[in-house]
Amino acid sequence: MKVLGKFPSTRLRRVRNSNWVRRLVSENNLSANDLILPIFIREGKNKTESIKSMPGVFRYTLDKLSIVLDKAEKFNIPMVALFPYTPNKKKDNYGSEALNENNLVNKSIKLIKKKYKKFGIMTDVALDPYTSHGHDGIIVNSKIDNDKTIEILKKQALLQAASGSDVIAPSDMMDGRIGAIRKYLDKNKYYNTKILSYAVKYASNFYGPFRDAVGSKNKLKGDKKTYQMDFRNYDEAIREVGLDIKEGADFVMVKPGMPYLDIISLIKQNFKVPVFSYQVSGEYSMIQKAIQAKHLNKDAIYESLISFKRAGSSAIITYFALDIAEKINNY
Ligand code: PBG
Repeated sequence: MKVLGKFPSTRLRRVRNSNWVRRLVSENNLSANDLILPIFIREGKNKTESIKSMPGVFRYTLDKLSIVLDKAEKFNIPMVALFPYTPNKKKDNYGSEALNENNLVNKSIKLIKKKYKKFGIMTDVALDPYTSHGHDGIIVNSKIDNDKTIEILKKQALLQAASGSDVIAPSDMMDGRIGAIRKYLDKNKYYNTKILSYAVKYASNFYGPFRDAVGSKNKLKGDKKTYQMDFRNYDEAIREVGLDIKEGADFVMVKPGMPYLDIISLIKQNFKVPVFSYQVSGEYSMIQKAIQAKHLNKDAIYESLISFKRAGSSAIITYFALDIAEKINNY
């Protein structure tokens, strides 16, 4: 690329010297349209429970969900993502609770769909909230069994779709699950239920606070490296995304976010599909705790989210969604 201009006739500071001109030349912008709000839900009544490792984020019982949903509606957030906290007594080796058509997630989808018409609902497909060992798949002969897990995941996905979920988001990283889920949804006539594949999901250390939030932290035996991607890898991300698009994914996700901006950009440049990113729990907690300690000012949140737009992301899942949506017009 040829660089044009020469000092002193060219002065780049000229188009930076007031707010109005900076706004005119800004190459990337964030709007409420870019935001997906994750919500933690739990059983019971009348509870908004704080999550120690994620200051400012809460688990809500269904009767309290309107606290966040009313705001999401008012700020025009296009989609919310539901994540269940599951009590130990509902967990087993096979994650059976995933196939309960009246489980917390399916119940919430129905309830939210009845009251709120404006936004889409996205639900996670994976077994980790429900397994006693904390893994996303089932264990057969001490290994996570890919194909047997898929048989469960596709049923989990169908139950969510039947409850009214708009976007099925498999976050389990089993091979071939997007195709199996798409086929199964189509066979049952859910042609319009969308699939957001967590196509590029790394075995990351930044998920710690989330596992605390959904109650799987102390359960997890070992790590997830046999199915989530090795964070040393780059080319492999292209193979993951390519396969998932062929299998029928409507959008693909890169996760985590900030440490993987190179991957977001790689995927956006190689595939002309909507790329979503997930600013995960560990990223949220780092920024939030630094703000609380006054090491960072609050505008660091906006800056972090703009980095996703610059990299080529369409939408961003972020625990800051409500915070930032409220302020967005002031930037
Ligand atoms: C589980 C799942 C995880 C996250 C979303 N879905 C954690 C994991 O894979 O262990 C992490 C999100 C976050 O850290 O905010 N299938």
